[in-house]
Amino acid sequence: MFRSASTAHPSRRRRLLAAAGALTTPLLPEDFLTLFDPLWSTTSLRGRVVARRRETPRAVSVTIEPGRQWAGHRAGQYVGVGIEVDGVRYRRSYSLSSPEDSGHLTITVQEVPDGVVSTKLVRDLPIGTIVELDRAAGEFTLPDPLPEKLLFVTAGSGITPVMSMLRTLDRAGTMPDAVLVHSARTPEDTIFGAELAALAARHPSLRVVFRHSAVTGRLDPGTLDETVPDRADRAVYACGPEGLLDALTGCWGDDVVAERFAPPGFGAVEGTGGTVELGEDTVEVEPGQSLLDAGEAAGKLLPSGCRMGICFGCVLPLREGQVRDLRTGELHGEPGDMVQTCINSACGPARIDTP
Ligand code: FES
Repeated sequence: MFRSASTAHPSRRRRLLAAAGALTTPLLPEDFLTLFDPLWSTTSLRGRVVARRRETPRAVSVTIEPGRQWAGHRAGQYVGVGIEVDGVRYRRSYSLSSPEDSGHLTITVQEVPDGVVSTKLVRDLPIGTIVELDRAAGEFTLPDPLPEKLLFVTAGSGITPVMSMLRTLDRAGTMPDAVLVHSARTPEDTIFGAELAALAARHPSLRVVFRHSAVTGRLDPGTLDETVPDRADRAVYACGPEGLLDALTGCWGDDVVAERFAPPGFGAVEGTGGTVELGEDTVEVEPGQSLLDAGEAAGKLLPSGCRMGICFGCVLPLREGQVRDLRTGELHGEPGDMVQTCINSACGPARIDTP
């Protein structure tokens, strides 16, 4: 389905692999071919940056041609992206903004203060850069069958997964009765502002309400019943900062399907930090820093996924010591326990095996 050299016809690929096998010793055919095109790899999933589009002064969309292992995504899901910055490998998860079945995938990234990876992606990622990719993941997806009426509430870069949903519905010609209330600081900070307005103009069943927090203050769920009088009849999907999602779920309870950028409570616990042996390396973990962040900052390539305690893609075996859960402050762990490195910090010395 994808259009690229990395997805050549299977018989052509088999012939090339056989020819490469005859020519390369002791390199494996896989090694030889990936020298020419890293997207050929059958053992790791990679992608090539093919386009960048500025969305706002602080946000860009990055389009990536995926390797042959990419299995596509469902609208609303996120993808783990690994890049190298100043010789250190980092991995971050970003929501996909491209529609389903789009061949190439697009992530839309807003620069965050002190964000090493977001700054690189937004300011200075050359076309042609090869990035590592995880498979798409996440449960924040459109329900099947679609509800009769939908309400999306988003703020800032929280529009990204919802944009993927709206683009998918637009492409399929199946836009239901939907209201999007989107908040950004100013019109200039509104990611996809023009495209959202165009979508609403094209689909009478879609209403888009822009709020600008620099003018009207932060989005207050208490005022949404005025904006959307039939709110109680709508399936609610929300994505944005923790404060907004907490307020929405506080008002409307579990009826809200919320996509969070960080686990609830994350950041409230500072912990004590400590010196941790990660495989063969010794890493200093700052108070309140996750084991995963500390390992990556030290140049280690560690398994990861959602980075918020959901997917268990980051678990590693604890061999000595204990760790502190950054969401609850709980001290836990026995030798042999598998610990999630994305949501645990150090609390004194510890030893953890790495792959
Ligand atoms: S990366 Fe998903 S649980 Fe840690």
